[in-house]
Amino acid sequence: MIYELSNPVTKNLITKLRDQKTDAIAFRHTIAELTKQLVYEALKDFPYIEKTITTWQGDKSFKALDETNIIVATVLRAGMPMLDSVIELLPQSTAGFLAMKRDETTHKSVLYYDRLPDCEGKTVLLVDPMLATGGSMCDAIEVIKTKNPSKIITLNIIGSPEGLKVVEETHHEIDIYIAQIDEKLNEDKFIIPGLGDAGDRSYNTPQIN
Ligand code: PRP
Repeated sequence: MIYELSNPVTKNLITKLRDQKTDAIAFRHTIAELTKQLVYEALKDFPYIEKTITTWQGDKSFKALDETNIIVATVLRAGMPMLDSVIELLPQSTAGFLAMKRDETTHKSVLYYDRLPDCEGKTVLLVDPMLATGGSMCDAIEVIKTKNPSKIITLNIIGSPEGLKVVEETHHEIDIYIAQIDEKLNEDKFIIPGLGDAGDRSYNTPQIN
């Protein structure tokens, strides 16, 4: 299933991302804020555990999340501000890294680094700000599935209808949480209206077209 955030605060932050005047630090900060909104939605049905803690009135039991059951996986490099944001919110979760680069000629992604932990029985939150053709997401999900997680949820900031359809059809059991579904892809497979290249915007590197 695809879930798109509809809160006006979300849309306001997306507009900030589209603005070319938003510099790298503000861009990463905005990505991090949107990621937290996505996490709240994505984990709304996540089961509670009872946790006994010492309060000012002695030991008491309260609702908590078993953060150790969560793996946050990202696709370098644009996914880094998202990963940082999730592990800030869920500090006991485990981080995993994949590196993929979209070949700008063939538009296909190539996996060249896999540093995912064992995901057996865990929930994996796969974070990547951009879902353009959906190729990177599909390939990342494919790799994650080989590690036997119990559930995979993707968190994306912006995506195209075409790319979302590809991911949904290829991996129909995956839940996709996205802040903004844009109009379309252009002939160079960039999201329109989009926000440019999230990796380049985040780290001040020149955009290669
Ligand atoms: C971007 C983005 C995704 C991918 C999306 O990464 O972060 O990983 O492209 O495109 P797709 O849906 O068509 O596969 P990019 O390859 O530009 O690398 P970067 O993160 O280093 O900027």
